[in-house]
Amino acid sequence: MNLFDVYPLNDIEIVKAAGSNVWDANGQEYLDLYGGHAVISIGHTNPHYVGRLTDQLSKVGFYSNSIKIPLQVQLAEKLGQVSGKTDYQLFLCNSGAEANENALKLASFYNNRKKVIAFKGAFHGRTSLAVSATDNPKIIAPVNETDNVVFLPFNDVAALAQAFEDHGEEISSVIIEGIQGVGGIKEASVEFLKSIRSFCDQYDAVFIADSVQCGYGRTGLFYSHDYAGVSADIYTMAKGMGNGFPIGGISIAPKFVPWHGMLGTTFGGNHLACAAALAVLEVMEQDQLMKNAADLGAYLISEIKKFPEVKEVRGRGLMIGIDLPAELSGVKKNLLFKHHIFTGEAKPNVIRLLPALNLTKAHADQFLEKFSLALKD
Ligand SMILES: Cc1ncc(COP(=O)(O)O)c(C=O)c1O
Repeated sequence: MNLFDVYPLNDIEIVKAAGSNVWDANGQEYLDLYGGHAVISIGHTNPHYVGRLTDQLSKVGFYSNSIKIPLQVQLAEKLGQVSGKTDYQLFLCNSGAEANENALKLASFYNNRKKVIAFKGAFHGRTSLAVSATDNPKIIAPVNETDNVVFLPFNDVAALAQAFEDHGEEISSVIIEGIQGVGGIKEASVEFLKSIRSFCDQYDAVFIADSVQCGYGRTGLFYSHDYAGVSADIYTMAKGMGNGFPIGGISIAPKFVPWHGMLGTTFGGNHLACAAALAVLEVMEQDQLMKNAADLGAYLISEIKKFPEVKEVRGRGLMIGIDLPAELSGVKKNLLFKHHIFTGEAKPNVIRLLPALNLTKAHADQFLEKFSLALKD
């Protein structure tokens, strides 16, 4: 049997990982500023995390949502406290797409409407409605095509106002990333997020903050949308939540009233996933990782801006996009294969930095030094 060949692969096998470093099968060390796509939040093989997971595994790894799982309650309490949303409710699932799928469904249950507003450049996942709300026709299968999703220009308050004026009573939800990731590290403006909040209030639509990539403390605030000073109705999360253990969730405002069977999942909220997520939050709190993300991010952004070759630097905290001119399209590959630094990318020529939130200044300086060499290669 062969693997279904959907991923273009780098010819590297990682056999060991610790903190912000990984090693390949030949013993070569790499600096990891990609974190397997923004997933590694507290560093690879963090000892507290490994200990908590191993301990849990030896007690009970899984049981379904047909019994009490006190770890879920502990996770909800901790998440409420760290995110500053103590009165919100938590539903646990397994991935970012699933989190968005559940959020969109919940919104539709809430106001009994069908239309979803999404934005140009958005990525919300690959399941049915999440992919329909993703601005990439290539990955939308015919069965996922729907008139229920309307795409508007990003950060365009006038277009948003017009859409609500025209169809306000039909709009179930507005879904938006605080910083578009796949779209090239583009931040939603404060004015735009505030407008979404006020139109959703006016028309009883649901504001869904996709925090799958930009959330979980990466920008210095737990949810990057909250820089706008308004709260969303539902926050979706995954990636950094389990530091590699698959877990996703939605944080739901008090106005949503659940009924038995409304949402559900077999694996979501299992014992191991909760132990992983609790370990992540404990380390984040103990080591003040949100502050580290804000401080180191600000440092990196200001230093990267000094390179004349760079067209633009975007982002916040440790979610950084370096926009390079077309003639420097080889820099990402050079960083990996010559300088042994993992980074992400976005089309057409943006290098994405999504490192662990406990990246050190020495790691940041190592990147800056190698980046300056890679620009000249
Ligand atoms: C903003 C955003 N939403 C949703 C998803 C989908 O998450 P997953 O791949 O866990 O389904 C992603 C994944 O990259 C993402 O960046």
